[in-house]
Amino acid sequence: MNTISEYSELVQPNHINTAGTLFGGYMLAWLDLAAAKASSEFLEKTDAWGAVTRALDKVEFREPVFLGDWVKCKSTVIGTGSTSVKIQVKAYAESKEHGKRLACTADITFVAVVKDSEGKLKSFKHNLKV
Ligand SMILES: CC(C)(COP(=O)(O)OP(=O)(O)OC[C@H]1O[C@@H](n2cnc3c(N)ncnc32)[C@H](O)[C@@H]1OP(=O)(O)O)[C@@H](O)C(=O)NCCC(=O)NCCS
Repeated sequence: MNTISEYSELVQPNHINTAGTLFGGYMLAWLDLAAAKASSEFLEKTDAWGAVTRALDKVEFREPVFLGDWVKCKSTVIGTGSTSVKIQVKAYAESKEHGKRLACTADITFVAVVKDSEGKLKSFKHNLKV
């Protein structure tokens, strides 16, 4: 079953670029964190130590995001492989002044990992399906 996970951030003055809108690099970090939370919840019952980001695909900045907006990310597991988990993140920007908009989307692939005896991360077969 597809799982939905939620993650939110408030756009504060240090997040603003010279154009007066949210700097895209912060949005990328928040998308990655949102997907990390979703992958962690998806893998919760497995023996994986955790999961690491392997690829960010189809990132689209659709609408500008402003100071004081809440960025609310909704993440869905849309695919699984042997070690990978693919997550679609939809980031909505929301404020009284600007309303609610679908601001940014991305497909992010995580790989389930365990630590070997030297503490090095290696991929882990999670045996899960969506
Ligand atoms: C995670 C890691 C240990 C796995 O290494 P590996 O065992 O050699 O395996 P690969 O990375 O080649 O592939 C692992 C999975 O990713 C998938 N994958 C590889 N390249 C991909 C890409 N460009 N897009 C989407 N999926 C990809 C593979 O198909 C495989 O999935 P599957 O097992 O479900 O079929 C290694 O890739 C790594 O350390 N990467 C860096 C991670 C990192 O530092 N992330 C940033 C901080 S979290």
